[in-house]
Amino acid sequence: MRDTAVGSALSNWLEHGIVDMKFGVCYYPEHWPQTRWPQDARMMRELGLEIVRIAEFAWAKLEPTPGQYDWSWLDEAIGVLAAAGLEIILGTPTVTPPAWLTRAYPEILRVDANGRARDHGTRRHTCPNSPTYRQFSRQIVRAIGERYGSDPRISGWQIDNEFGGGGTARCYCENCAAAFRDWLQARYGTLAALNDAWGTIFWSQTYTDWAQIRPPSDHIDKKNPSHVLDYYRFASDSFVSYQQEQVDILRELAHGRFITTNFMGLYRDLDQFDMAETLDFATWDNYPTGNPERWRPLLYPPGADAKTNNPLYAYDVGDPMVTGLAHALTRGLKNAPFWIMEQQCGHINWAQFNPGIRPGTPRLWTWHAIAEGADTIVYFRWRATLFAQEQYHSGLLRHDATPDVGYHDHLTFQADRDLLDDLARQPITAPVGILFDFADLWALQLQPHRQDFGYLRLLYVYYTTLQRLGIPVNLVPKTADFTPYPLLIAPTTHLADAQLASKLNDYTQNGGTLLLGVRSGFKTTSNLVTDEPLPGALRKLVGATVTSWQALPPDVGWELETAVPHLHGPAGYWLETLNAQTASVLATYKPGGAAALTEHKVGNGRVLYLGFYPTNEQARALLLHLAGQLGLNWLPDLPEGLVAAQRGPYTILLNFTEQPISYPLNGQAVLVNSRDVAVIRR
Ligand code: GAL
Ligand code: ZN
Repeated sequence: MRDTAVGSALSNWLEHGIVDMKFGVCYYPEHWPQTRWPQDARMMRELGLEIVRIAEFAWAKLEPTPGQYDWSWLDEAIGVLAAAGLEIILGTPTVTPPAWLTRAYPEILRVDANGRARDHGTRRHTCPNSPTYRQFSRQIVRAIGERYGSDPRISGWQIDNEFGGGGTARCYCENCAAAFRDWLQARYGTLAALNDAWGTIFWSQTYTDWAQIRPPSDHIDKKNPSHVLDYYRFASDSFVSYQQEQVDILRELAHGRFITTNFMGLYRDLDQFDMAETLDFATWDNYPTGNPERWRPLLYPPGADAKTNNPLYAYDVGDPMVTGLAHALTRGLKNAPFWIMEQQCGHINWAQFNPGIRPGTPRLWTWHAIAEGADTIVYFRWRATLFAQEQYHSGLLRHDATPDVGYHDHLTFQADRDLLDDLARQPITAPVGILFDFADLWALQLQPHRQDFGYLRLLYVYYTTLQRLGIPVNLVPKTADFTPYPLLIAPTTHLADAQLASKLNDYTQNGGTLLLGVRSGFKTTSNLVTDEPLPGALRKLVGATVTSWQALPPDVGWELETAVPHLHGPAGYWLETLNAQTASVLATYKPGGAAALTEHKVGNGRVLYLGFYPTNEQARALLLHLAGQLGLNWLPDLPEGLVAAQRGPYTILLNFTEQPISYPLNGQAVLVNSRDVAVIRR
């Protein structure tokens, strides 16, 4: 049973596995004189690049007046780049509608939760539900698709650019209000069902006409969490359907060329699994010195150092754990190899600090991405811009067109091409899945109960613990096939229904080990508290009930009594007492003796429920206990800043610190220099 499932999961990798490793760069021919293009193209090839991504912001130049297209410059650019031997990825430019469009139809503008519309002068200022914007988007995509869809020089398409970027996933305009009502009608059918699902009897919110329902804007003080959660789902679905219109057109016109878009790592406002479903593969934009600055506060325990980098890491590398989690999520979107569509290759311009990047660091980032399952790396960008919003952002070339650090670093890959090609063909087979669900994340974001309870923060405890043990892990959605994973961790499956319970039941019946964490099954999918004993829909599976739950103040913890090796108290932060019915008890709280960890045999597998929010040490003890029972392999504890990834027969060690590290692997000491990589074949 499991073998077939592993087979089907692997086929994603094998299908893609025929490709060699490829490198490319984002290029904006419209930013440079045409006379410069041939030299740029030649230099790209000399550097060893095969791919160039163009045109994703070029709407105004492609359609200077309504319905009048100017293809001449793009024809010429494609000609020059292709003649030099580069494959072309064409972007659809819908992220940047021209001024004539915005001015003629101000109703296309995105409206924020305060009711303020964005204006022309940047990007992403549009509403995905505006029928006008959709119509113009379809027109430009069709026009480009008709022009270049069968052009052999185009190898694939990027739709739009970073959907939701800059906090634009949710719009509160009248078009959205109307579309939201349609979405709700389709979901609930009747107003009575909607009123029930949202509990609108509370505070006389009851709706007696669909027209009374509006988006949960900031004009509402304390919002109803069921209303907001549905709005988040609706907003995400809006981009899914907006994107789908472009996919449909390109599927018709692009003759089987690939279609993708560029995601943003741990970006939380759109359901990336839903977005990825229609795409051929996933890509993300990796800015290691910028993104972790945003994400660390969501991942590390609240405290002074969450905002700045770990001092053990070199100052210009970012946070490899955080970057690694984003790689794992993107890989998990399709359980397949992915691309880095924009790889930082020098300093950036948009973070709090924007350190200069030393030689060796861009190379380390590229190796990290490959080690985690990327098979194509596209650098951002070819040459630093002289004008507009990103003047302080670097490229492979400096402003004056001389090579910058990323350029020199990339040259080092020329010697490694055979190894890279072999690596790109290797699958990543993760024995552990972590369940990741955007609706769970949103529900807990809306009602964390204790301010610092974060869905990602809890997930990160498990992720980092597995990373330190060198155990590969995938992030998997509730819709995935779980059977390839001997161990499935659900840090908190907050929203649950009978369907999920039965799917998890099948998984465990067939031999899977499921580890459920706190706050699981607390709510229904419409974000109401379950009226069953906790964990609600998952209760039978767990074989135990949650008899009390509490968010403990800092520094309060309960001691534990358990036979699980190295698992010690205090247990704190968030704590649930359990009462085992058909499950056995693996740990109890002292004093009192209530169960803290239970294990329930289900068919050939089992379900564990961990009743407290674990520290890293507690997670380590429990995971090692399970890994031992399941026969999973792990590595000797990796020191902080040394990352190990497994791809096919290769172990890739990456050192993100300033010091060389000697690490014992397969009975020998492997020396990994500072900001360097060692690739070992088993
Ligand atoms: C990305 C974006 C690029 C560029 C880059 C700068 O988010 O897709 O167009 O703005 O950031 O770091
Ligand atoms: Zn809108």
